[in-house]
Amino acid sequence: MITLAHISDLHFGAESPEVVEGLLEDLRSVEPSLVVVSGDLTQRARRKEFAAARRFLDAIPSPRLVVPGNHDIPLFDLVSRFARPLARFRSYIDADVDPFFSTDEVAVLGMNTARSNTWKDGRVSIAQIDALRRRLCPLPPRVVKVLVTHHPFLPPPWDPSPPLVGRAAEALRAAEACGVDLMLAGHLHHGYTGDVRTHHVDIRRAILVAQAGTATSHRVRNEANSYNVIRLSPQRLGFSLRVWDGKGFQEARFVEYEKSGSDWGPAPVRDSWGGVD
Ligand SMILES: [Fe+2]
Ligand SMILES: [Fe+2]
Repeated sequence: MITLAHISDLHFGAESPEVVEGLLEDLRSVEPSLVVVSGDLTQRARRKEFAAARRFLDAIPSPRLVVPGNHDIPLFDLVSRFARPLARFRSYIDADVDPFFSTDEVAVLGMNTARSNTWKDGRVSIAQIDALRRRLCPLPPRVVKVLVTHHPFLPPPWDPSPPLVGRAAEALRAAEACGVDLMLAGHLHHGYTGDVRTHHVDIRRAILVAQAGTATSHRVRNEANSYNVIRLSPQRLGFSLRVWDGKGFQEARFVEYEKSGSDWGPAPVRDSWGGVD
């Protein structure tokens, strides 16, 4: 069993220091195999914000996989925005903006969807879709395959209106063909889970989605700070939503899926991670 912690939209520069400390404490107790950060590490892509994000990442004992978000590209410095949009991200966080992590049990591919030519929307490129096919298609079915972007592929169940990542349909066709099990994203500052087929009716095979809320920013959207802890094995995927209650992060919701054949469906109700009730 692999444990992923999925955090997003940290927004250093607009962070709540006590929540940052609480998150570090919670991550240390969860002991994830990998911490996935799905973008917007900073508020305005300033050097001191990236330096704070770097200190935060360095305080996490687990391996990390990080992709940029739209806030990690300078907004007002037009030379930087268009000539070197991710220079600060590459310098402070990771030179690789499409990172890849793999073991015998799990493969996690990050895709940078932040773009200079749009204020806040994002896009997947043809080259990134080719890389997805190259990296994930050859892996055997027992390896759980995970894609990470900042911009979402699935809108919230209560609101279909937010724009999705550009070229979503094409990327999803490749993800379906390569047996991707799970997609992680952020950007909307709402935590929810689902199946892409509820919105993308052309997709035939279940691809599960976990969207993360903002982990540490005080710019919440009618929702407390939160992040996801995801336990996965080839046959079972459990999502735990951990929410800040003013003192610490606590589990507020738990959803579990089970694989039958090549498809994921809701699992029987269980008592936490243990036996069936
Ligand atoms: Fe954000
Ligand atoms: Fe964003």
